[in-house]
Amino acid sequence: MNVLVTAGPTREPIDPVRYLSNRSSGKMGYALAHAFAHEGHRVLLISGPTSQPLPDHVDYLPVTTAAEMHQAVSRHIGRMDIAIFAAAVADYTPVHAEPQKIKKTGDRLTLELVRTPDILGSARGAFGFTGTLVGFAAETEALEENARKKLASKGCDLVIANDVSKPGIGFDSDRNEVLLVYPDQSVALPAEDKVHLANHLAEAILELAAGKADR
Ligand code: C5P
Repeated sequence: MNVLVTAGPTREPIDPVRYLSNRSSGKMGYALAHAFAHEGHRVLLISGPTSQPLPDHVDYLPVTTAAEMHQAVSRHIGRMDIAIFAAAVADYTPVHAEPQKIKKTGDRLTLELVRTPDILGSARGAFGFTGTLVGFAAETEALEENARKKLASKGCDLVIANDVSKPGIGFDSDRNEVLLVYPDQSVALPAEDKVHLANHLAEAILELAAGKADR
């Protein structure tokens, strides 16, 4: 199977030396890319800046901003059987990046931000993707309800939801505890390290993709 994985944070430039970003380590996405490649699938990893080592036998397309990730996904998703959106894409980006370093002249500084493109939300519509679509939902409340809303509104086959308010799991950590939200059911997986979890997730996603191919 051809598998696309987005991973890591994006960086949105403010000026030549500053950016807006988030604490995503890229671990979950890289572990998923590794799990699929290890099973002999062809993986394209589209990733924002991380310090993760690149898994073997994975095609790698580095990007920096949400707009670049959107463009890279739009170019490649057409030939994919499975697309997994594990990236923590910035929701807002500065309206424009200052060409020169911003000087500290006043006591206050206002940055004007604009929404970034919704990459996962473009998959079914703008990109016309018909393969197996998997999104992530990092929530601090109403985990299942919010994940189920995301599943429906983005046309996903599966949303992998995790409660980022729990200490020691999820964002920027080695372990994760997720709820698999499908259109017809939800399955809670026990907390485990991201490498083992990625193997279980890859299995579940391959089962979904096989089910889709049978239909
Ligand atoms: O709506 P929310 O940002 O919580 O959705 C998270 C999911 O959407 C993740 O799978 C993430 O990779 C994806 N996403 C995206 N493009 C954005 C924002 C989120 O692909 N601009």
